[in-house]
Amino acid sequence: MKKDFRSRTLAVIRDFSIEEQLFLYHQTKILKEKWRKKEDISEFQIKDPVNIYIVFVEPSTRTKESFINAAKFHKNARVNIFDSEHSSFNKRESYVDTFNMLTSYGDYSIFIVRTRLEGVPRLLKKKVGEFADRHGIKRPAFINGGDGRHEHPTQELLDEYTFLEHKNFDNSHIKIALIGDLLHGRTVHSKVDGLRIFKNVEVDLIAPEEIQMPQHYVDKMERNGFKVKKYESIDEYLSTDETADIWYFTRLQLERMGEDMLEKAESLKKAVTFREDMLHKVKEGTKFYHPLPRPKINPEIPVFLDDSPLNGWETQAMNGYWVRVVLLSMLGGAIEMETPTEQNEIENKDDEYKFIIPAKITHGTKGVLKEGKRGIKPIDNGTVIDHIAKGKSPEEIYSTIVKIRKILKLYDCDSADGIFRSADGNYKGYISLPDRYLSKKEIKKLSAISPNTTVNIIKDSSVKEKYRIKLPPKIYNFEEISCKNENCITNPKNGEGVPSSFVRIGDKLVCEYCETPHDYGEIWTI
Ligand code: CP
Repeated sequence: MKKDFRSRTLAVIRDFSIEEQLFLYHQTKILKEKWRKKEDISEFQIKDPVNIYIVFVEPSTRTKESFINAAKFHKNARVNIFDSEHSSFNKRESYVDTFNMLTSYGDYSIFIVRTRLEGVPRLLKKKVGEFADRHGIKRPAFINGGDGRHEHPTQELLDEYTFLEHKNFDNSHIKIALIGDLLHGRTVHSKVDGLRIFKNVEVDLIAPEEIQMPQHYVDKMERNGFKVKKYESIDEYLSTDETADIWYFTRLQLERMGEDMLEKAESLKKAVTFREDMLHKVKEGTKFYHPLPRPKINPEIPVFLDDSPLNGWETQAMNGYWVRVVLLSMLGGAIEMETPTEQNEIENKDDEYKFIIPAKITHGTKGVLKEGKRGIKPIDNGTVIDHIAKGKSPEEIYSTIVKIRKILKLYDCDSADGIFRSADGNYKGYISLPDRYLSKKEIKKLSAISPNTTVNIIKDSSVKEKYRIKLPPKIYNFEEISCKNENCITNPKNGEGVPSSFVRIGDKLVCEYCETPHDYGEIWTI
């Protein structure tokens, strides 16, 4: 069975499976070897007509120019360089409208997109894909050329390819030091998934606390089985004798820093800048890598190292061209991957309310009797929401009750609420709604506001149904939710009109677009 990559989107490195990434690296190796030996490389060229659009809304040299050159390698491709500065973006046109239009100018398009806003490629895949379906056009492919501080998956492809070359294509083990601005650097964020092509991964994170890797990425590395260690500075790292042979530097992303951090930037930078007196402590065989650009004043990798055996960053940057040629070959249908069985992309589907779990009815009648003795009148018919925010402080429970009432608009009916101590000594909240039943949609909303709550349906003075509700696998379609990341394409501040959507991963709700993790209490705007 052959796998066709046309219409695929690479928004994050994880959009390609490990097998697919390894296939791309293998093809790149073949292409480079053939080119070096001056052999025929036309098999990599896209045969069918394709529009390749280069849309950069943020500055770039390497990604943009290597993609332009890689696109021109494909002689049948019509290569378009979008002039975003003079486009209708400046008349406040949305991303979706812009890309819908560009999609209509060809039978099949591949877009390479760099934006300041995060989550744009994921949005385009969905909305522009729907536009293409409406008009009988083949769904376009989107390649993320870097979205804010989120991800840079094609940099990841060229980095991993370069590491494989460094290791003579042995992917059994890698030990790598990530050095610099690990907080804002999207290239290091992509490593959390990209390094999974190696079977055994050790990562040393070298950065002062202020610019260390966000904890949710560290957690994810550990979940991926990586061994992770942290160091405050290169000096501290070199004082150990356990340094890696692959050092990956990133620049301080001053353009993404707030005032407070900018004030400290110089001292933060010192901790992650290499000096001549460190040279003798670096293990033999070590190579330095850097996604580039490096700043011309006080670069993290000083220029005196350019002519040293440590220089791996130049070959790394040149690999960007080859890896991108092959990526376009794949998305343009020139090369297909042999697979044992057909594998479809797995979409996140709402799990048919599996988070609303029927529970055993223990009271039989008058499920609210106990609490009734302490102040709430038992009801004959209606709903009792119980165990609200159980175990939290009375203050937190009260604010959850208010939130539930506000979001579900439970203030235009007879009702009562309270806070009680259970038999186990924990406090819990309680809302009683005589003659009011909640719809499935309301219960879903409730489960996202206050998971682990119980819903009792009371009829003729008996608890007839009882449900325990858990955090749903996906939360969307609610006006009152919003991603807290101000740079997310869904954030109302950015005016793109994209509804927020969250996917449950562990006990966190992760924005479907920019992947910022939230506690369930954080997604509500009320
Ligand atoms: N590495 C990288 O993304 O460089 P550019 O910003 O020059 O594209």
